[in-house]
Amino acid sequence: MSKIVVLMGAPGAGKGTQARLLQERRGLPQISTGDMFRTLAKAETPLAEEVRAVQSAGKLISDELVIRVVEERTSQDDCRRGYILDGFPRTTVQATMLENIAIEQGHKIQAVLVDVPFELLEKRATGRLSCPVCGEIYNIYFKPPIKEGFCDAHPDAPLTHRTDDTSAKIKVRLETYEQQTRPLLDYYSGSHRLSRVEGTRDLKVVYEDIEKIVTGDV
Ligand code: AP5
Ligand code: MG
Repeated sequence: MSKIVVLMGAPGAGKGTQARLLQERRGLPQISTGDMFRTLAKAETPLAEEVRAVQSAGKLISDELVIRVVEERTSQDDCRRGYILDGFPRTTVQATMLENIAIEQGHKIQAVLVDVPFELLEKRATGRLSCPVCGEIYNIYFKPPIKEGFCDAHPDAPLTHRTDDTSAKIKVRLETYEQQTRPLLDYYSGSHRLSRVEGTRDLKVVYEDIEKIVTGDV
């Protein structure tokens, strides 16, 4: 049966990094609600302005809007063999909706927690830079680009820093995670659908563990 891989973890844990590797190596589309809303937020519309404000405050976008976006995206053809969710679900309402989506689409849900202690997360997020062209994720401490401030694959593209990656915003995002998203770990482990990987190790080693879980080799 095809799978929906739900990558879970606190802000900065490495969900995006691992989802991109899974997409590249296993051919499963990465569906990052954070990235989708960052793209949407670039428009000059009232909705974009609202999304910008919520994201940069480190709060959650309404369940209703997020669910609509996920339903639409996952109904596309490239998702028929399964897909990776990065940053969704984040609330119990979203998790319940995902059960319905999975049944309708005929997929099984496999949640994977990328586990990183809180003290490491701030450095990961404040040090993060991303390429505006390809979305590659760098880190000034842990994964610096070859040329400082520029993407390895797009040397003319200056890397960007997310507006929600300041120490103060990260604190809010971590609180939001604790209150609204962490309870989902019990939800998935209670139904034997959660695997945990130690996310403090080298990102390639973390990936190897995730790949084994996703391919059913454990
Ligand atoms: P989102 O974009 O999902 O942000 P997040 O959950 O806070 O997670 P991050 O993207 O910060 O971290 P990550 O786990 O992807 O880590 P990464 O791989 O980049 O959401 C942003 C906002 O959008 C939310 O606050 C909310 O407003 C809204 N939103 C999104 N989804 C929503 C939903 N479902 N409902 C409601 N609102 C929603 O890695 C971090 C850094 O660490 C990088 O620099 C990377 O290079 C480095 N790194 C990664 N792995 C390693 C490693 N193993 N060793 C060393 N460094 C590493
Ligand atoms: Mg991310």
